Amino acid sequence: SRALRIALAGLGTVGAGVIRVLDTNRELIARRAGRPIEVVAVTARDRTKDRGVDLGRFAWIDDTTRLAEAEVDVVVELVGGSDGPALALARATLAAGKGFVTANKAMLAHHGLELAEAAEAAGVPLKFEAAVAGGIPVIKGLREGAAANELARVTGILNGTCNFILSKMEAEKRDFADVLAEAQALGFAEADPSFDIDGVDAAHKLAILASLSFGTKPAFDRVGIGGIRHILAADIAEAAALGYRVRLVGVAEAGAHGLFQRVHAHLVPQDHPLAHVTGATNAVVAEGNFVGRLLFQGPGAGEGPTASAVVADLIDIARGEAGPPFAMPAAALADAGEADGSDR
Ligand code: HSE
Repeated sequence: SRALRIALAGLGTVGAGVIRVLDTNRELIARRAGRPIEVVAVTARDRTKDRGVDLGRFAWIDDTTRLAEAEVDVVVELVGGSDGPALALARATLAAGKGFVTANKAMLAHHGLELAEAAEAAGVPLKFEAAVAGGIPVIKGLREGAAANELARVTGILNGTCNFILSKMEAEKRDFADVLAEAQALGFAEADPSFDIDGVDAAHKLAILASLSFGTKPAFDRVGIGGIRHILAADIAEAAALGYRVRLVGVAEAGAHGLFQRVHAHLVPQDHPLAHVTGATNAVVAEGNFVGRLLFQGPGAGEGPTASAVVADLIDIARGEAGPPFAMPAAALADAGEADGSDR
């Protein structure tokens, strides 16, 4: 049957990865999707850069927002940034009645409700598996897999850069600044690495997970945030001597005063599942009233894992299996409740 036609904004690590996944697994994806998935138009900052994929077969569109006017079914946004061109493209795409797939956690944490309402009003899908924990299907897992459960608590290691830094500082007794440079060189740090090390990126992802888990409006400004830049190799050694590891953990919990949402460095007992998560890995623990405790773990960043999540969303859309963005209609989402007092 007819191909699902895609326009792709952003050809960085993840964007080029999406093209590579679609090319390499073309037949298998078409069988699973029930029809071919074809990229037809692309945009990026730099047209000439070699990304190791052939772009000559796609229409090149210079203005990011105008991608919304391309003759496609779905626009994939991998530009990043909570506002600016990414948000303009999201609004234009949904207003044009086209589906929207994004890895943009910052934009969803700040504008997720508005975009969900726009998608529902237009009757088109808005999907973002790649926005949280890279390749781990945690959005699908919580939104669909745990749909029958009331969740009491969701915790997780949501930033690969911080987890890479903290685990290297421990294993190699190195200083923070030294390992940060290495994480940046590996390419999973944010464009602005302060978003990683000050807990902002993890807070973006926590706001999205909290919304899915508790049926609340995504509310980044209600997340208390602390980071890891003040942590010394000596602190980590001290924690280890006491039987703990240091991890940047996000916690969302239903409480008496609304939803508690916080990201900060935790001492995690060495026998806790999150203590065993090392390197740029992410993990999410969710506790449901019927399923019990779920642990999702896997690669939280990087080309292959993140592109894999983007294409999984496209396959769902191709099959017509999208559903409401935050697990229930936007109008049914509750207010998140009070912030707990942030370090910001
Ligand atoms: N900078 C992010 C991380 C990339 O380190 O986890 C994935 O969102």
